[in-house]
Amino acid sequence: MTILSERARRIAPSATMAMDAKTKELLRQGVDVVNFTVGEPDFDTPAHVKKAAVEAINAGFNKYTPVAGIPELKEAVCYKFKRDNGLTYTPAEIAVSIGAKHSLYNIFQVLLDPGDEVIIPAPYWVSYLEQVKVADGCPVVLSSREEQGFRLDAAQIKEVLTPRTKALILNSPSNPTGCVYSRRQLEEIAALAVEKQFFVISDEVYEPFIYSDTGHVSIAQISPEVKEMTLIVHGLSKSHSMTGWRIGYTAGRKEIIAAISSLQSHSTSNPASMAQKAAVVALTGSQDSVTEMREAFRRRRDIIVKRLNSIPGLSCRLPEGAFYVFPNISKLFGRRYKGQTVADSMQLAELLLTEAHVATVPGSAFGAEGYLRISYATSEANIEKGLDRIAAFVAALE
Ligand SMILES: Cc1ncc(COP(=O)(O)O)c(C=O)c1O
Repeated sequence: MTILSERARRIAPSATMAMDAKTKELLRQGVDVVNFTVGEPDFDTPAHVKKAAVEAINAGFNKYTPVAGIPELKEAVCYKFKRDNGLTYTPAEIAVSIGAKHSLYNIFQVLLDPGDEVIIPAPYWVSYLEQVKVADGCPVVLSSREEQGFRLDAAQIKEVLTPRTKALILNSPSNPTGCVYSRRQLEEIAALAVEKQFFVISDEVYEPFIYSDTGHVSIAQISPEVKEMTLIVHGLSKSHSMTGWRIGYTAGRKEIIAAISSLQSHSTSNPASMAQKAAVVALTGSQDSVTEMREAFRRRRDIIVKRLNSIPGLSCRLPEGAFYVFPNISKLFGRRYKGQTVADSMQLAELLLTEAHVATVPGSAFGAEGYLRISYATSEANIEKGLDRIAAFVAALE
């Protein structure tokens, strides 16, 4: 008898988690590792948001709530979309889940039949691929090139469309590249989605962290027709530094939202009641902390990109958003460190961790060999220290 289901055996463990575990083990041993793997802001949750949760607990708001979110929170999400994106949604078009990861999981479960294809632009955030597979869908990985700023154009997407194409994932700003799609590019993709009738799953969790003047455009803003075909996935983990609170949400067609609510009613039930109260305040209260984080990230991005580009053999484009850089390391392949030849991004990441005590994530984990992902959700002092170590390591390569 095979113990695990075929489905369970299909899931690949997250490579980012594996690197994180190795890093934590070294830290536990007392090694001074500069950790560039982190996927969460290094700021505390804003005080007024924490206060709202404490008040909710003390007021006895500690019981089950409606499965897909309290009405107040759904209203707050609608308010956010109106304020930030000029988009009109009603509470029946919103489902609140336990983080954006859960929102995505629900979407694939309710949207995909076995063999349905989902186009995933690479470099991609690791969980998309596995979640599509768990839902019996078929991931269609479509690589974007660095020279295109890691953005796909509509013509490339058109080439891989088949009668089984059910959805396209867009992640702007992107994890891991930090790229941001322009309105013009989104218009072309939107026209294709409407013409060919596939859904666009638009993961916008990094929305507040855009450093270019163009700002954020959601594909749902392009036309009412594409809004009908779009599911926006969002959450408070990144925007309000609330990773531990586990609040994410989906906006889209009522029938899909109703199916997500039903699924959730049989799996997790509601997100934590007090976290929902905190989320209301985060979305509707002062956004000053978000602005402060954005400014800090912008400064760090500029420092890290400048430092990476000053290291011979490395090159790094300036990402427009999120809090990651994705330097090209392919010129280091074939060089040797203490007798070992650097063959790929995984080996480089491992050598950097064990020899230079700098933790990064190999590009191969995101479907893009030849790159490393470096998170700058850490202090400027740490960034300088980590970059000193990377520079010394590269200089020591034969
Ligand atoms: C692109 C992207 N989408 C979604 C998520 C999930 O965020 P959460 O489940 O914490 O809301 C992450 C987290 O790293 C992410 O990088």
